[in-house]
Amino acid sequence: MDRIIINGGNPLQGEVAISGMKNAALPIVFACILTKSKCVIENIPLISDVALAIKIIEAMGGAIRYIDETTVEIDTTDLCGGVAPDDLVNKMRASTYLLGAELGRFGYSKIGLPGGCNFGNRPIDQHIKGFQALGADVIIHDNKIVASTPNGVHSGSIYFDITSVGATINAMMAAVLAPGLTVIENAACEPHIVDLANFFNTCGANITGAGTNVIKIRGVEELHGCTYEIIPDMIEAGTFMTAVAATTGSIKIMNIIPKHLESITAKLRDMGVVVNEFDDYLEVTAGPLLKPTFVQTKPYPGFPTDMHPQFTALMCLANGESTMTENVFENRFKYVDELKKMGANIDTDGRIARIHGRADLKGAEVISVDLRAGAAMIVAGLAAKGETVVTNIELIRRGYQDIVEKFRSLGADISEIID
Ligand code: EPZ
Repeated sequence: MDRIIINGGNPLQGEVAISGMKNAALPIVFACILTKSKCVIENIPLISDVALAIKIIEAMGGAIRYIDETTVEIDTTDLCGGVAPDDLVNKMRASTYLLGAELGRFGYSKIGLPGGCNFGNRPIDQHIKGFQALGADVIIHDNKIVASTPNGVHSGSIYFDITSVGATINAMMAAVLAPGLTVIENAACEPHIVDLANFFNTCGANITGAGTNVIKIRGVEELHGCTYEIIPDMIEAGTFMTAVAATTGSIKIMNIIPKHLESITAKLRDMGVVVNEFDDYLEVTAGPLLKPTFVQTKPYPGFPTDMHPQFTALMCLANGESTMTENVFENRFKYVDELKKMGANIDTDGRIARIHGRADLKGAEVISVDLRAGAAMIVAGLAAKGETVVTNIELIRRGYQDIVEKFRSLGADISEIID
């Protein structure tokens, strides 16, 4: 069984470069479907979810050429719609973007039910609401989602009842070639929404307002290919910031956009961690005394839910009681039982976890119950006394490029066993 072995206690020192953002790369890879052309995507993270998305495009008839480790040419000229293999689609939630991309290009989409991390119910009612506003009929039957537009996709007004990253992305995909003005209200504002809009506009689209709650899309006749660089991964950066704080370390984190990290920086500073911001890098330094704090996850620019497990692991080391309130997903606390195996003292009640610190964490065998939970196990293991064994690490590989090598380069005693 593949696993990561950590002997904790080494303060992290040195510098680390952040890779391209998983949650920006995934929509942009699927958005290439709408260009019917060749696109060169730079700063693509070498992670399994992105490799899977590219494999799906290839299986649909796309031509893929890796120019170097993190640059890929995607040619969707001869792509066929409605043929994405179920056994690939059902491995990740981002496969839902096929619906918007295929609707936008072919006026029709048929995919198997997507997979994804299990945080409780993850409906797609808002995605469907968006497609219906653009003239599509959507049915879920026999483990398939079929979206069709008898009269072609048209523009429309969409008001999302819930701020949803995926539904916002899917509405943008379906509307970008639809004649007329589409207005998306209560849109998600995440940096990866902005990155997708910038990609589309580089391909000749006409999208304004990305990064605000109102996005306006004026449909264009066609898109052309382009060369585009993916933004750095704010969650990977936040994970390293948390790990430095957990190990009383001091590191330089390169290739970041400080604005994307503002909520994480603010909470670390609440805990007494020193964060110095520069144009495209941060210096993070932490002493042995961490103050407790209170975190509420919210859609961007709030504290990101994808930093929730890692930050809870850190708050175990604070002197006093902290809380983590999860406002985005129904149930993201499955990792707490794993932290308790290491000596964490945490009570959960509905959406709130109360973290009683300072816990003297001890190494243990723990499971990655999902992608970010796996990262949290690494953060806790780096701080714990003794050996931590993290299993189910294929989930970590979904979203972190070379995470073991990067932590080892910072002085961590960490290795990966491939069985
Ligand atoms: C994206 O998931 C990310 N995944 C998640 O990252 C991230 O946690 C999430 O956005 C929030 O930022 C990718 O980008 C591939 P949502 P998504 O739609 O789009 C509810 C990671 O670790 N909802 O913004 O699925 C939903 O249940 C992953 O990288 C509806 O009710 O998230 C949730 O409670 C994990 N109906 C809330 O909205 C819908 O139709 C936010 O979900 C859609 C969503």
